[in-house]
Amino acid sequence: MLKTISAAILFLAVTFLAQAQPASVSFDQATKVFRLDGGGVSYLFGVNPKGELQQLYWGGRLGATDLFPPARPLPEWAAFDSSYSTTPQEFAGWGAGLFVEPALKVSFADGNRDLVLRYESHTTVPNGFDVVLKDIRRKVFVTLHYAINPESGILARSATIENGEAAPVTVEQAAAAAWALPPAHYTLNYLTGRWAGEWTLNQEAVHPGERVIESRRGSTGSQANPWFAIQAGEASEDHGEVWFGALAWSGSWRITVEQDQLDAVRVTGGFNPFDFGYVLHPGQSLETPVFYGGYSASGLGGASRLLHRFELGHILPRTAATAGQAAPKPRPVIYNSWEATEFNVTEAGQMALAEKAAALGIDRFVMDDGWFGQRKTDHAGLGDWYVNQEKFPHGLKPLIDKVHTLGMDFGLWVEPEMVNPDSDLYRKHPEWVLNFPGRPRSEARNQMVLNLARPDVRAYVLGFLDKLLNENDIAFLKWDYNRNWSEPGWDQLPAAEQKRVYVEFTRNLYAILAELRHRHPKVEIESCSGGGGRVDLGILRYTDEVWPSDNTDPFDRLTIQDGFSYAYTPQIMMAWVTDSPHWLNRRTTSLEYRMLSSMQGSLGIGANIANWTPEEAATAKRLIAAYHQVQPTIVQGDLYRLISPRDGGEFSATQTVRQDKSQSVVFAFIHSTQKGRGFPVLKLKGLDPVAKYALSSIEGKPRAGSPTVASGAWWMNHGLETDDGFKGDFQAAAFRLDRK
Ligand code: GLA
Repeated sequence: MLKTISAAILFLAVTFLAQAQPASVSFDQATKVFRLDGGGVSYLFGVNPKGELQQLYWGGRLGATDLFPPARPLPEWAAFDSSYSTTPQEFAGWGAGLFVEPALKVSFADGNRDLVLRYESHTTVPNGFDVVLKDIRRKVFVTLHYAINPESGILARSATIENGEAAPVTVEQAAAAAWALPPAHYTLNYLTGRWAGEWTLNQEAVHPGERVIESRRGSTGSQANPWFAIQAGEASEDHGEVWFGALAWSGSWRITVEQDQLDAVRVTGGFNPFDFGYVLHPGQSLETPVFYGGYSASGLGGASRLLHRFELGHILPRTAATAGQAAPKPRPVIYNSWEATEFNVTEAGQMALAEKAAALGIDRFVMDDGWFGQRKTDHAGLGDWYVNQEKFPHGLKPLIDKVHTLGMDFGLWVEPEMVNPDSDLYRKHPEWVLNFPGRPRSEARNQMVLNLARPDVRAYVLGFLDKLLNENDIAFLKWDYNRNWSEPGWDQLPAAEQKRVYVEFTRNLYAILAELRHRHPKVEIESCSGGGGRVDLGILRYTDEVWPSDNTDPFDRLTIQDGFSYAYTPQIMMAWVTDSPHWLNRRTTSLEYRMLSSMQGSLGIGANIANWTPEEAATAKRLIAAYHQVQPTIVQGDLYRLISPRDGGEFSATQTVRQDKSQSVVFAFIHSTQKGRGFPVLKLKGLDPVAKYALSSIEGKPRAGSPTVASGAWWMNHGLETDDGFKGDFQAAAFRLDRK
């Protein structure tokens, strides 16, 4: 009897373990194979007989007892490609005739530039390993850090490079990690853009040679985003193997996707080696950013769902209110004054807008640019972070008090790393900007970049922000960054060391954000850079949300939001409803269409609501209330891109399913009905097939006579039908399904 019970318990435990798929890491002494398992993923590498650390396997989770054969270096290819070059190394130093991208390239004080890294030792750390490599002759040590996330199988990889020599070593190129894939036909996905046109998904075959995705701008940039996804065969939303990665770095970065002479593929990413040079004095070390990498067997959709959950659970910061919780709280619905007033902010004007905003059901009122220094246009004031006396004679307190009385919290725009030449700060400290002495200081939007790498600038920025938050009851900062670098000199340092600016600037940015969050644990922060110019897993450790684009046109936003969603969770994707016709392209759209477009992410209102009719206000109020009810599902659920707006088709649709499958929300958009075509039946995804779900409308109607309650199987196999009259130009509908 006892035996049967314990067998049953054992069975249950095994079943539970098999379902929960906990992380496990192991090193097999006999084969010298390292193995990391998490979620549905296994990652293996080993020490080959030459002592090189060689990648062995990255893909679907292997059986717990499967043994992997020892690493075997690949042979040389005639006399032209050495084994050192053809073997997929985890972290290859540039030396010994390496022709593919090195993970590390250094030069020594005596002119030697040869670096050959071999396994030295390792330690087991929580969910991973620290593996130490050392050059064959010199005391250059590299510690590779590995940690696998138990739920998603997403790996975090980074490296610490240490100089144990008696003379300086200059690091000229340092990756966080290199990922290897065996020869096959692959499709590469990556995101590019420009101001007001961010988040374009590009899909192309991986060809021999190298595709470089990078920023040389000093910050992440909207022109390319540090994310990639490589799919076996053709790109597919729902099917097939996908390997993806995201670099956690908000400075200049580079990811190379390289197919070598033998058709193998390597993805190498880290600091951008362009203009890079980091001097390590004896005993000093350099820590690279983290390069996250994941695997999904369920197409691009599966890959982005894993990444979204990982970001929610393990990247995004928590506030005092959400400390220790599994996910941050959904974003408050905000009002932002920028498009309504631009720089023309005044106490009376903002109070009037706040009253209107509160009546709509807004949670947070944010005052944008224009409140400080002599800021009347973008020509002056940046750097002078005192409240403008003309616009706010009694400081910010009366406005903040008013916003609180109206039941909202208060947020404020800042652009801490910038200065206008026409400012007290620049007049006092012209030496604080990035510059090469005696050379022009290029301006963009009439502003220059403060050299945040300097300790005095770092202290100034932290000081004024801390003071601002101490003196005012501010719940939220919109942290903007409205240009990229030029002339990135740092003349405080010896010439050979000035390129440290590429590392120290970004580190100081992170340090300031971390310190502010520590001192003000209730404050939330948005990362904005003229739109989506600083969005990456590095800044997202310190910021709660991002501004994806200054382009708030609701139709353009559909593709912007679609592109964004490949790499980032809708939780952080702020989306304002603004005025029509739109300032960027003069497109006219209904308020309902604008509202639904923004409701796909974290909703905000950025229109001049002072001019809204009572009918418009009533529509917005109704839809904000409906949004509040389903927001956690939309922003933290599993996202299915049912019909992508990407290819300019007539229709697009998304669906999100709450993680416990109790609720789902569907958005449907028509660009322009052609030839009378009706909206396609939407076969939903991710529901519980045996549960019953009740359909209700948020906006628009389901087809007359279609069931209001049906099984998950019905909604997924038969599908959801919209009203026959759902036709026209720029039309939108939204539905919710609730498990009965
Ligand atoms: C940037 C931001 C806008 C707004 C302006 C203010 O362009 O992206 O949302 O804050 O700056 O100058």
